[in-house]
Amino acid sequence: LADPQVAVPELLGCPLEDVRPAPTQPLPSQLYRAAGDQRLNSTGADLADPAQRAPLAAAVAATQVQAVPLASPTDVQDAVVRLQGGFKAWSETPVAQRAAVLRRAADAMDAQLAPLCGLLVKEAHKTLADCVAEVREAVDFLRYYADEAESAGDAAMQGRGVFVCISPWNFPLAIFAGQVVAALVAGNTVAAKPAEQTPAVAAACVRLLHEAGVPEDALVLLNGAGETVGAALVAHPATAGVCFTGSTQVAKIIHKTLAQSGGDRVLIAETGGLNAMVVDSTALPEQVVDAVVQSAFRSAGQRCSALRLLCVHEAVADGVIEMIKGALAELRVGDPANLATDVGPLIDAEAFTGISAQVARLHREAQLIAEGRVQDGQVPNLLPPIAFEVRDMAELKTEIFGPVLHVLRWKGEPDAVIERINALGYGLTLGIQTRIDTRAERLADLAAIGNVYVNRNIIGAVVGVQPFGGEGLSGTGPKAGGPNYLWRFVRPQALPGRP
Ligand code: NAD
Ligand code: ALA
Repeated sequence: LADPQVAVPELLGCPLEDVRPAPTQPLPSQLYRAAGDQRLNSTGADLADPAQRAPLAAAVAATQVQAVPLASPTDVQDAVVRLQGGFKAWSETPVAQRAAVLRRAADAMDAQLAPLCGLLVKEAHKTLADCVAEVREAVDFLRYYADEAESAGDAAMQGRGVFVCISPWNFPLAIFAGQVVAALVAGNTVAAKPAEQTPAVAAACVRLLHEAGVPEDALVLLNGAGETVGAALVAHPATAGVCFTGSTQVAKIIHKTLAQSGGDRVLIAETGGLNAMVVDSTALPEQVVDAVVQSAFRSAGQRCSALRLLCVHEAVADGVIEMIKGALAELRVGDPANLATDVGPLIDAEAFTGISAQVARLHREAQLIAEGRVQDGQVPNLLPPIAFEVRDMAELKTEIFGPVLHVLRWKGEPDAVIERINALGYGLTLGIQTRIDTRAERLADLAAIGNVYVNRNIIGAVVGVQPFGGEGLSGTGPKAGGPNYLWRFVRPQALPGRP
């Protein structure tokens, strides 16, 4: 650990009393979970307990993913007409009743943890730990938006009309459900278009919402390709807005379509990131490397929040890089159904081919630090986690949506590092690792980044506690799971006498 008494160049000018003493335990990270937040939690499951993990493992083994019908252009047209027809009754349903429907659905989802995990493992190839966390997040979204809408009241929660919700495959339950129920509880009817890769998870979620009391003409599921079904919904002039989570590239297409169509159709977009972590010479290396492994390689790096660029001060870089090598050698890369697996497969062969090409480019252009090892050869699309050292941030061309980490050494002022990160244009997540509290605060203030984490990993925002969403190329919208989110879904109206 760097001794603060030793004058490493970046500490010149920083009063030594501002540096926390060399720690014997983890540095304090932001405290996110206050007592009152517990109400949001689903029951979940403790995977360390054999009695709790057995039913999950059994559900995974028993699950077979069924084919789901795809929507035709006529289905899209019919769905919008149907949802327009259902709008009056649903929007006039008192918000307390709409919220009650969400809470019933949350209870049902909580009770169906095992079958939902089975589907998530088999269709989205997520590890069991990620599946349990995802079901909990979905349940949290339902309960949180129910509470938020009900406390806002009937006068405030007046829907805009038919909302289009378009979601990605990497959180096929939590993001899909979060979008749909936010739009519904705010009084809209919803055309839901999930990712092509995960239609069965979406179908299970919609079934559960209908069974909980969402009318059939308030929520219609339209499976199919983004370029056809998704694009047709976005272009449909009778829709009131689009809630989109996915790539920046597709968000730009949707934005253009909405802008060209005129009118006041709303776009809520949550997109990708080139997320960085800045480590200064006072940080605790073990904590840094643990945060790096979680942030860059968990979920095989297939999170918008995942770490792509580790900026580590030159005084501690050799030590941190050595520990990353050690960690990569330890990670188990394999079958997502195996509880020992740390890193599961990529979503599909197309992702595998695309990311393998990016890795081949990095082998040519950057310096390999280390690569993990695939343990289960028979599991398709397993890409070993890998880390490269780069000389310049400009070498990061685009978001690589997999377990690929870039490491950059820095010297001089950390403020300049943040300015260069800002210049990348994205603004989703950022990690700061330091023993200097005032520095953490200053860097967070400088960063044009939606979610900043100090002395911890940068993934897994908790609903109601860490409202999640970026700026710049990372998104337009208010933060999901936060108090301002629902307001984008309602018709803004000023009426004297009402708040
Ligand atoms: P994607 O943009 O390829 O697809 C997302 C959705 O858009 C899918 O349902 C797809 O069918 C649909 N789509 C594609 N083309 C369309 C079009 N022309 N018109 C309308 N809809 C269209 O993204 P993906 O590969 O599913 O997901 C990975 C991306 O999502 C990554 O970039 C990741 O960073 C981002 N993401 C962001 C967040 C966030 O909250 N910021 C969360 C998860 C994922
Ligand atoms: N909300 C998810 C996370 O924070 C994407 O990792």
